[in-house]
Amino acid sequence: MADAPVDSVTTVPVAVVGAGPAGLMLAHLLGRAGVGTTVVDTRTRHAIATTQRAGILEADAARDLVETGVSDRILREGYEHEGVELRVAGRSHRVDFRELVGASVWLYPQTDVFADLADARERDGGAVHFGVRDTEVLDVTTTAPRVRYTAPDGARHEIRARYVVGADGSRSMCRDLVPEDRRTRYGREYPFAWFGILAEAPTSAPELVYAHSEHGFALISQRTEAVQRMYFQCSPDESVGDWPDDRVWDTLQARVAGEDGFRLKEGPITEKTVLRFRSFVQEPMRWGSLVLVGDAAHTVPPTGARGLNLALHDVKVLADVLPRALGRTGDPALDAYEPRALRRIWRAQNFSSWMTRLLHTEPGGSAFDLRRQLGELDNVVGTRAGRAYLAEQYTGWPTRGHRP
Ligand code: PHB
Repeated sequence: MADAPVDSVTTVPVAVVGAGPAGLMLAHLLGRAGVGTTVVDTRTRHAIATTQRAGILEADAARDLVETGVSDRILREGYEHEGVELRVAGRSHRVDFRELVGASVWLYPQTDVFADLADARERDGGAVHFGVRDTEVLDVTTTAPRVRYTAPDGARHEIRARYVVGADGSRSMCRDLVPEDRRTRYGREYPFAWFGILAEAPTSAPELVYAHSEHGFALISQRTEAVQRMYFQCSPDESVGDWPDDRVWDTLQARVAGEDGFRLKEGPITEKTVLRFRSFVQEPMRWGSLVLVGDAAHTVPPTGARGLNLALHDVKVLADVLPRALGRTGDPALDAYEPRALRRIWRAQNFSSWMTRLLHTEPGGSAFDLRRQLGELDNVVGTRAGRAYLAEQYTGWPTRGHRP
């Protein structure tokens, strides 16, 4: 296969495997730096555009989309949130990001980030090939790695590059190219998952509501004035077929119920999915001429809304060092990538797993566990230091050395 004849050969400085937000943003930023890329993805553009993912962008990431010329749609269609609500035992506590740490986040679904990036690549003449198959990444321990793939029309292509970037998501095949005896995989599984819905209903609350209840966690998020996104903790082997709309609403209502009489506004449910998650990091993130970014190298549980932001941070660092690695400094310039990326990755790993354990109930947990957890939640919502800690972690750490 590696040397079988192909129908076309192209040469480009950087080949990117994966056309999700991380791969496309990298291609966009490199394009601005005058570095050519070719991006391939096994999924179709439509499949990526319609797969529901998280919806929270750090302010710096939002600004990067606007200021690097991807699109300013986020400013028109996104919602800036200056806080979140933590609902504990049916009582709401607001964590005011603006007041506590001078920050905010943007509610702007990942599907929109993807659409903006795919449009920008098209507008700027970037090469992005969706719906390819039989992708092979070859020769990554040399300075002439290659990517081979079959296009949707059946033609076989080869990309010759100086570097290959693995941006191929949580089921990455690129990460397996780091030999088993040279890589370490760190991680943990959780004994629960999220049941996610999209509903045609009016907004129930002005900001996101993260709810802890003795029945388990729930998250009330939004998409637009007329479409809502909500999640509740479920078992990882839950089956969507067992959940008619009424049962979903009863479960969500019970998890947010309280003395204040708060109720979710209900409507037809248009999508139901069980989302399994885990905490995961593979090191090293670089192997020869292969570099991993985003979910290919690390995943976090969705509770802290860190995943997309972390991927975009990797990409920002890589877009900074790759042009130098391709220029006069040469390959050693890439050495800066991993330590700069990993520092934020492990901070985010800590925050995401902390927030997950803070808000979810452990199946089979004892009465002591529940009371200890309520004590911890009281420390978070009931003290300024606790709220400020959550606010600082949730809004991300500045990538530009200063807060806006
Ligand atoms: C979402 O809107 O889908 C969302 C928001 C916050 C999270 C996870 C998902 O922590």
